[in-house]
Amino acid sequence: MKGNERLHKKWLDWCVSGVELSGAAIVKLFQWASSRPDMFGEDFCKLFCKLQDETTPHGFGHTEKLMEEAFGRGWKEVIDMDSQSPILGSGCIGQVYKGRMKDTKKVVAVKVLHPNIQSGIAADIDILRSGARLLNMYVKNAKWLNCPGMVEEFNALLSEQLDLRNEAANLEQFRTNFSDDETVIFPQLMLPARANVMVEEYIDGDHLNDFLAKNKGNKALKNKVCESGIRVVCKMIFDHNFVHGDVHPGNILFTKEAPGVEPKMVLLDTGIARRFTKHDHEILVGVLTSFINGSGKKAAEYLIKDSLASQSSPPVGVEGFTKVLDDMCEQAKRDHSFFDSIGNYVSTICNAAAKHQVMMNQGFVSIALTVRVMEGVALALNREAEIWRVANGIILQAKAKSFLGKNVYDE
Ligand SMILES: Nc1ncnc2c1ncn2[C@@H]1O[C@H](COP(=O)(O)OP(=O)(O)O)[C@@H](O)[C@H]1O
Ligand SMILES: [Mg+2]
Repeated sequence: MKGNERLHKKWLDWCVSGVELSGAAIVKLFQWASSRPDMFGEDFCKLFCKLQDETTPHGFGHTEKLMEEAFGRGWKEVIDMDSQSPILGSGCIGQVYKGRMKDTKKVVAVKVLHPNIQSGIAADIDILRSGARLLNMYVKNAKWLNCPGMVEEFNALLSEQLDLRNEAANLEQFRTNFSDDETVIFPQLMLPARANVMVEEYIDGDHLNDFLAKNKGNKALKNKVCESGIRVVCKMIFDHNFVHGDVHPGNILFTKEAPGVEPKMVLLDTGIARRFTKHDHEILVGVLTSFINGSGKKAAEYLIKDSLASQSSPPVGVEGFTKVLDDMCEQAKRDHSFFDSIGNYVSTICNAAAKHQVMMNQGFVSIALTVRVMEGVALALNREAEIWRVANGIILQAKAKSFLGKNVYDE
């Protein structure tokens, strides 16, 4: 390693410790950033990745207090759990214990928020707000990214997660939406959720890396699981308009099955779920079908029209932006592997938007991010995953539905 590389690595290490010492909101922000190698570079992402689910757990005293508040003094008659119970994970918002229901003996996962989490987050958000204002004032082009708007959106998302009743309600919705899908599991809620505590069925599964290690040679199985994963995310976006907003490898398990039985994908951590307005959904479907039809011009038209509606002055580089998207589609026609990576076109579009100052539709950007992370999981399962082949059919169906005036909003 050369001297300046070593220095760069030291600097990144130092940044990681800094973030670890700061508050939950900032850790969450960096977790999000670490899923964007296209924006922040590979080095940054590899290092900040380790922030996922690796915070110091709080003591059992706090957990006991919250359990008593939630389920009364007799809670130990309902759930078997004590200071020796295994901690399954401790993220920046709360921690998860493995316990057991006293009556049915069913194993459960009990999620409990950390102490003083609300006030800590409020302080972090204030810091982020000031940072975003400074960026807007002093960094050329940053205005087009609307950083203060992003902080407010981020704040709304975090606040939602601070009440576990939201997570429980989302979980129920996902269970209903996927009740006839054999390939995915959302754990069942075992007791009515409280703001600080929720109890759900424990599912014995492997995280992505363990699953990959176990099934190293089994390409067919990995392909199947990969395809189911893509289908599940597409259904959320195009059929249900109810999208898991925190898809990353830490929130996905694969069930342990007997040889020959296909494992199911388990989606956890439903604290954030997104619905899109009819307008945002139409833009998304419009942009994607334009890409499928190979028309970058038409996709740019959708995004520019939307940009004009959301800002007072027209975007500066209509022509430049259109040209980038058009070139991108032409390149994709020549070089099929380009479109195989959704990350490629997400970063091309984002860079073009920043350069040509086209305000991006927030719904489009957040869906692109979810799909970008899911793509990482799919590619880990199958390096040749043909995401478009699976997704195309679902997207075109959504387009057909909206032509018939039968989109997800009318139901
Ligand atoms: N229902 C469950 N069944 C099995 N393991 C679970 C369950 N819920 C959570 N876990 C484990 O606990 C970890 C953290 O849970 P999660 O809901 O993602 O909380 P956090 O908000 O802290 O990320 C998960 O990565 C998983 O290993
Ligand atoms: Mg999680």
